[in-house]
Amino acid sequence: MKFTYYGHSAGLVEAGEHRILIDPFLQGNPLSPVFPHDVKCDTIVLTHGHEDHFGDTVEIAKATDATVVATVELARFCAGKGLKTQEMNLGGEVSFGFGTIKLVPAFHSSSYVDEDGRSVYLGMPAGVVIKSDRSTLYHAGDTALFGDMKLIGDMNSIDVALVPIGDTYTMGVNDAVEAVGMLRPKKVVPIHYNTFAPIEADPQRFAQKCTEIGVEVLILEPGGSLTL
Ligand code: NI
Ligand code: MN
Repeated sequence: MKFTYYGHSAGLVEAGEHRILIDPFLQGNPLSPVFPHDVKCDTIVLTHGHEDHFGDTVEIAKATDATVVATVELARFCAGKGLKTQEMNLGGEVSFGFGTIKLVPAFHSSSYVDEDGRSVYLGMPAGVVIKSDRSTLYHAGDTALFGDMKLIGDMNSIDVALVPIGDTYTMGVNDAVEAVGMLRPKKVVPIHYNTFAPIEADPQRFAQKCTEIGVEVLILEPGGSLTL
């Protein structure tokens, strides 16, 4: 399994022949090294409906015929836009050609602001556990710190955890270190920081604190990748 970071919360998982795009916020993402038309994928996983995660889902899914995987409300919202979907809900695990995707809890909110400025409720936000080639990747989505992260760590041997550290909308550095202590991944990659002013954070401070609790941090530059 290979993970390539596109900045913010976005990234691509390559597993065998399969390409799984997570939270494809690319065009409006000042950190993204790629444009929607550059990306080839067969699956798009959405953690929740906020614009900085939903991003270019419609354009990419239409261009690639990818299946959008998301919680029920968000999947049906995508189906309404003519996309191919696999709906799920928290706790559910579905098999795909490359392995499995399981949606796990995240403590956040999920909505989409339509053309008229109305907020459309899009169900529960999620974290995602992707298993393939005997490797396990956990993308925490947008979330606060919560105690059941210990369960996620106990029940999965996580090779890499992607955790938000940008504060304001999600965990900040101190809470993210606490989360890492519960998840006990082999490696952790900080995400959801330094995209915009309100989520400025110091990944070196996060790395230092994780090292103190014995977990290795890999700070990926946008475009950088990691092979599991
Ligand atoms: Ni969000
Ligand atoms: Mn976000």
